[in-house]
Amino acid sequence: CQVVVLISGNGSNLQAIIDHSQAGGYQLAAVISNRADAYGLERATRSDIPTRVLDHKTFSSREAFDGQLMQEIDAFDPDLVVLAGFMRILSSGFVEHYAGRLLNIHPSLLPAYKGTQTHQRVLDAGELQHGASVHFVTAELDGGPVIRQAAIAITSNDTAESLAQRVAIEEHKIYPEVVSWFASGRLLMDADGILLDEQRL
Ligand code: GRF
Repeated sequence: CQVVVLISGNGSNLQAIIDHSQAGGYQLAAVISNRADAYGLERATRSDIPTRVLDHKTFSSREAFDGQLMQEIDAFDPDLVVLAGFMRILSSGFVEHYAGRLLNIHPSLLPAYKGTQTHQRVLDAGELQHGASVHFVTAELDGGPVIRQAAIAITSNDTAESLAQRVAIEEHKIYPEVVSWFASGRLLMDADGILLDEQRL
């Protein structure tokens, strides 16, 4: 299973996905960033994974950027496209083009706390639980079918920063695992949602 990963920054999820690739039965065909200074690009280069930078600021519209991004991705002919801290909203044309083979990870227990600043919002609301969700991407932002979640208990000492750190640890466990499920053919998205076939490992 050939995977293209899209990033914008640090790439700690990318690193976890790289580290699990052999055991997980998938290969990273390329890492593409919309920011030239994304640290994740260095992580990819260190692991001999091809990289591309496509700066969204050099395009006149979201559609123009997304169209070029699709061309860059499809040049690697991937089976799966993984968003790992990719901080751009994708147009419906892009999402439809990769329907059923586009994953994202979001730092909340979806469907709660879509969007940004999730750690602070969870604290402000006095929640007792927080976590991360891996989901298929659909046209609705952070709204596609959830595949896997990891939850953590919030303590009275937690800050947005401590939550971010603890959620990241969980993300690094569940994201590579979901990618390996997809690689083994266990994971499908159809019109009714997702299908996780326990028999097909
Ligand atoms: C993670 O919190 C992820 O949930 C969100 O962006 C962050 C990416 O971090 N989508 P990293 O670049 O993988 O370190």
